[in-house]
Amino acid sequence: MRNILVTSALPYANGSIHIGHLVEYIQTDIWVRFQNMRGNQCIYVCADDSHGTPIMLRAQKENITPEQLIERYSIEHQQDFADFSIRFDNYYSTHSNENQQLSDTIYNRLNDAGHITRKVIKQAYDPVKEMFLPDRFIKGDCPKCGAPDQYGDGCEVCSSTYAPTELKNAVSAVSGATPIEKESEHIFCKLQNFEDMLKTWTHGEHLQSEVSNKLDEWLDSGLQEWDISRDTPYFGFEIPDAPGKYYYVWWDAPVGYMASFQNLCEKRKDLSFDAYWDKNSQHELYHFIGKDIIYHHALFWPSMLEGAGFRKPSGIFVHGFLTVDGQKMSKSRGTFITARSYLNNLDPEYLRYYFATKLNGSFQDIDLNLDDFLLRVNSDLVGKVVNIASRCAGFIDKRFENKLAANCSEPGLYHDFIDMGTTIAQHYESRDYGKAMRDIMTLADRANQYIDEKKPWVLAKQEGMEQQVHDVCSLGLNLFRVLIAYLKPVLPDMAKKVETFLNIKPLNWDNYPVPLLSHSITKFKPLMTRVEKEDIEKMLDESKQDLQKELPAKATGATPNTTNSKQGSGDPIASEIQFDDFAKVDLRIAKIVKAEHVEGADKLLQLTLDIGNETRNVFAGIKSAYQPEELEGKLTVMVANLAPRKMRFGISEGMVLAAGPGGKDLWILHPDSGALPGMKVK
Ligand code: MSP
Ligand code: ZN
Repeated sequence: MRNILVTSALPYANGSIHIGHLVEYIQTDIWVRFQNMRGNQCIYVCADDSHGTPIMLRAQKENITPEQLIERYSIEHQQDFADFSIRFDNYYSTHSNENQQLSDTIYNRLNDAGHITRKVIKQAYDPVKEMFLPDRFIKGDCPKCGAPDQYGDGCEVCSSTYAPTELKNAVSAVSGATPIEKESEHIFCKLQNFEDMLKTWTHGEHLQSEVSNKLDEWLDSGLQEWDISRDTPYFGFEIPDAPGKYYYVWWDAPVGYMASFQNLCEKRKDLSFDAYWDKNSQHELYHFIGKDIIYHHALFWPSMLEGAGFRKPSGIFVHGFLTVDGQKMSKSRGTFITARSYLNNLDPEYLRYYFATKLNGSFQDIDLNLDDFLLRVNSDLVGKVVNIASRCAGFIDKRFENKLAANCSEPGLYHDFIDMGTTIAQHYESRDYGKAMRDIMTLADRANQYIDEKKPWVLAKQEGMEQQVHDVCSLGLNLFRVLIAYLKPVLPDMAKKVETFLNIKPLNWDNYPVPLLSHSITKFKPLMTRVEKEDIEKMLDESKQDLQKELPAKATGATPNTTNSKQGSGDPIASEIQFDDFAKVDLRIAKIVKAEHVEGADKLLQLTLDIGNETRNVFAGIKSAYQPEELEGKLTVMVANLAPRKMRFGISEGMVLAAGPGGKDLWILHPDSGALPGMKVK
C-alpha cells in the first residue's frame, strides 16, 4: 500500500469558484479517488488562500472584517466543491494557528541558515490611504497604446507589459490619489543559494518534461532574491523579527498545504505529520497546480522546504488553462461560469466526465466546447454506458424477478473487459484520463454490439429462449458493472446509484473481476438524463446576469524574474512594435564554421559562427532538424546584437533565425548566393 498526500492549489478567498478552477479540483479528485480504489492510502487536503492586499481591500469595501470575508468564502467554496463531489479529507484556511507557526518555523530556520536578507527598495505609495500599492492597484493610461484605465502590471487592450511607474496619469485605484515613490526596507529570501539544488531537483523525475524545460529557461538566466515581506497595512502574519512587516501571501500560501494536513492529524490520530513531512519521509507528496503558478511551486516552495529541513514534493502535476468555446472565459459572453451557476442548471457529473475526456497529463490548455460537451455526454454516458443497463434491466425484472443467471455465458468477452483494467489503471495513474475514457467507451461499444447481435427483445418473443434472454441480459449487466468500476473515479454519484441498483458493496479496483451469478438486484431507476441545449443556454444567461458581481482578483504575478513570467502554448501575437524597435535588431549573415553536439542536451547544437570580424558561440535548439555535419561551411542569419545569455551549457552569444513549426521542420540555412559573413541582412 502506498501512502500518498495530495493537494490542489489553494483558491483565493475573495472570489467564487469558477469552471476554470474546477479543471484542477476535478482532475485531482479523480486521481485521489482512483488511488483509494486501488487500496492505497491517499489523503487530499486543501484550504482557502486567505491573505493579501486584495482580500484586505475587498473586506474594507464591504465594511466587514477580513475574517468575516474569508469565512463567507470558505463556506461558499466548500459547498461548491461538495456539490461537485470533490472530496477533501480536510479543507482549511491559511489564516490559522497551524499555518502561522509553520510559516514562522520555516522563516526562522531559513534566517538562521543565512538565507534571508534585507534591503531598502522604492515602491509606489498611496499618500492618502497610507499604504504601498501592488501593481494591480495602480491605474492609468497605457504607455504604449494610450488606452485609459489600465492596471499597473499590463495593458488589457494592447497586452503590453510595463512597470507601474511607466503608466501615464497614474492614480491609486484605492483612493484616486497620485501615487508617490517611497522607500522601505523589505525582507528577501536568497533563492540563489538554492540554485544548484533546484537544477538537480527539476531534472529528477518530479516534473513533466515540458515543465522542466520551462524552468531551465528561468534557472539558466539566474535566480534573484525573492521579496517575501509587505508593509503594514496588510492582511497576513506579522514576521517575527520585523514589526509592521508581514509575510507576502505567497510565503504562507504553500505552507497552507502542511498546515491543513497538520490540522487533519489533530483530528485523525492514525495520521502522523512527521511521517509525511520529515526530510527522510518515504511517503509520497504531490501538488496539482495550474501552469500560472509553476514558479511558486517548483522554485520557491522546494527552496523553502529544503532550507527548513523538510522533505520536498515527489511530484508537481501541472495542468493547462480552460477556455470556453475556444476563448478565454468572458463575462460578457456569459462564459465566465461560476461553479454555482453551472450547478443550478446542469449535472456536475457531466462536467467531471467532459473534463476527464480532455485531460491528458500535459499542461496544454483545454477547451470546453459547449456543443461538443452536449454531444459527448449524451452519446457516451447516456447513449452508450447507461443504455447497456436500461436495455437489460427490464427483462431481468419482468421475467426473472431481478435475479441474474447462474452462469456467465461468454467468459471470453467478460475477461476481455477485466483485462483492460490494467491499461486503464495506467492511464489514470499517469493522469491521461482522456485515454482511459476512450478505452472505456470502446468497451461500452463492444457491450452494446453484443446485445445488438443477441437481440434479447427478439429472443423474448420466441418459445424456449428464456435461458438465452437470461444469459444475455445478465452478462450485459455484468459488463456494465465492470464499466462502472472503471468510471467510478470520474462518476462517483453514478457509481453509487449503480451499487444500489446492483445490490453490491462499493466497487473498488479488486472486487469486480468475478461476475455476479445468481445474484439478486434491485429495480432499475434511470441513472442519468440527457444534457439539454436549453439548460446550457440558461446557464449562460445566468452567468451574464452575474456580470455586476465582482471578478475574483488575481493576486500579483509575483515572479521575481518578470521577463519569463508568461507561459503557455499558442501564444498570441505580441504587442505591436514600431519600425524603430525592429531596426534595433542587428541581423547578420554568419558562416557556420563548426557545429557540434552538446553533451547532456537533447535539443541543442553548439555552433561557432563567423560574422566577418569575429566569431560567436551560439547554442541553438535545432538538433531535431540537423546533423552537425550538414551545417558546417553553410550560411545562416543571426541576431548579432542580442545580449549574451548564460545557459546551462555555457554562454550563448546571439541567436540564429529559424523558420518552421519545429521538430524536423526547421530551417536555418541561408542560400549561398555570394553573401559574405558579417553582411547586414536587410
Ligand atoms: N492562491 C493561489 C494558489 C496558492 S497555492 C499555494 C492561486 N489561486 S487561484 O484561485 O487563482 O487559482 C487556484 C488554481 O486554479 C490554480 O492552480 C490556477 O492555476 C487554477 N486556475 C484558475 N483559473 C483557471 C482556469 N481558467 N483554467 C484552469 N485552471 C485555472 O493561484
Ligand atoms: Zn496598451
